Amino acid sequence: MQTQLIAALQRIVGDNNVLVGDATADYVTDWRQRTHGQALCVVRPGSTQQVAEVVQACAQAQVAIVPQGGNTGLVEGSIPQATGEQVVLSLRRMAAVRAIDPHNMTITVEAGVVLQNLQKTVDEAGFLFPLSLGAEGSCTIGGNLATNAGGTQVVRYGNARDLCLGLEVVTADGQVWEGLHGLRKDNTGYDLRNLFIGSEGTLGIITAATLRMFPQPAAQLTAWTAVASLEAANALLALAHTQLGAALTGFEVMNQQALQLVDKHYPHLRVPMWQQTPFCVLLEASDSESESHARAAFERLLEAAMEQELVVDAIIAENLKQAHDLWHIRESITLAQAAEGVNVKHDVSLPVSRIPAFVAQTDAALQALVPGIRLVNFGHLGDGNLHYNTQAPEGSDAAAFVAQFEDAVGEVVYQAVHQHGGSISAEHGIGALKRDKLPHYKSPVALELMQRIKQALDPQQLLNPHRVLRSRASGGEG
Ligand code: FAD
Ligand code: MLT
Ligand code: ZN
Repeated sequence: MQTQLIAALQRIVGDNNVLVGDATADYVTDWRQRTHGQALCVVRPGSTQQVAEVVQACAQAQVAIVPQGGNTGLVEGSIPQATGEQVVLSLRRMAAVRAIDPHNMTITVEAGVVLQNLQKTVDEAGFLFPLSLGAEGSCTIGGNLATNAGGTQVVRYGNARDLCLGLEVVTADGQVWEGLHGLRKDNTGYDLRNLFIGSEGTLGIITAATLRMFPQPAAQLTAWTAVASLEAANALLALAHTQLGAALTGFEVMNQQALQLVDKHYPHLRVPMWQQTPFCVLLEASDSESESHARAAFERLLEAAMEQELVVDAIIAENLKQAHDLWHIRESITLAQAAEGVNVKHDVSLPVSRIPAFVAQTDAALQALVPGIRLVNFGHLGDGNLHYNTQAPEGSDAAAFVAQFEDAVGEVVYQAVHQHGGSISAEHGIGALKRDKLPHYKSPVALELMQRIKQALDPQQLLNPHRVLRSRASGGEG
């Protein structure tokens, strides 16, 4: 049966685009190298029609499909289970730009377009595509929409969901839903687009999208500040909202431990101010008038912040290179953590106002649980999204720390998140990693509705089964 399916897939996409054995290695291990799956094969269709035919063939053979873009996801949702029975469907070959409509300010692209290439194409067309994240050199727009990715400009432009006007999706029974309209208003019934966005490949396969483009700002400025506390960071955020209004496009916080890891692994990056205060904040402002207008506004903001003693020290990048270097430090935290050893991550969101109390309470509880635990906190404070990550105590065995404490640490963090009215996944999704945590923190009614939606759209449980939700049919192990 499996041989027959592979032969059928080869007929659909060509022999070269069905990978087996060692050739599947890049597609079956998660980005953090924590988990290794095994695939029956990796199939790489080149068109929507081929995706539909692949899905039909798999449905007929009752073989499950794991859609995959850049495989940069952080919740183990894009790799197959270890059984070797699932087909990985890679969208990476589908990377065409189908249309740009400057008057409608939209672009229509295939799902496998790498985010950085999309940003560049939109830039060359004279517009801005604001989705921006550390993995942008390899993640795909299909994966970004499937996870409803956030990133560093959500405070101004919203999540991936807010940037999308239309989708083309292959359904679990191999039909093509063509919903690629570039409409900003469309109240003709249930919102199918938003159902597929954020569904992590469990409801349909996104093959193309129509996305919003924005005017390019006349100037973009970046500042790096040292702040004494999260309370001060929050007050700075409020001041920035008031003084900069819609010009505030980024507001990232990084604690000393996060910056110390960057300094340790990438000393050439010359992390500014990290020893001065417990936190640094990176701010970005985008101005529609001019660089001098932006600079004056930024200087006024930082002067006021200093007068109010919210900021201890600050620099404004002099040019684009300096700005890029500052952002590069921020984007290097995840890599520095990986270089330090395996670790435990939590991607949480809270009302911004609750973050200082949440962090104080959780820090104390974790230090009591694992004396010396390193608390690596950073993230998109402007959106209330904190990457509350942890690392083994200095000098101790990282793998042993993860094996012994991952669950207990997670429980402390998620209980506190829940208590403060937050979410256990702000932007990375649920995947396999958080699937069994979800029932503890989401209402039974919401979970039941999600199960019914899954059952209605994918009754055979063929699309990314056991991800996000436990599959009812088979118990959902793995
Ligand atoms: P994959 O990892 O391939 O897949 C992710 C999920 O989407 C899987 O469940 C998969 O089955 C599904 N999927 C993929 N493509 C499709 C498709 N075409 N149709 C249906 N389902 C599909 N995330 C953020 O939100 N914000 C950040 O700031 C951020 N920073 C990161 C920094 C680093 C260094 C790294 C490694 C990751 C970061 N991420 C971040 C996580 C990750 O980059 C995002 O989740 C990204 O959107 C995943 O895109 P991808 O193409 O790699 O998807
Ligand atoms: C980021 O914002 O850099 C990533 O989403 C964080 C992470 O690796 O936890
Ligand atoms: Zn993030």
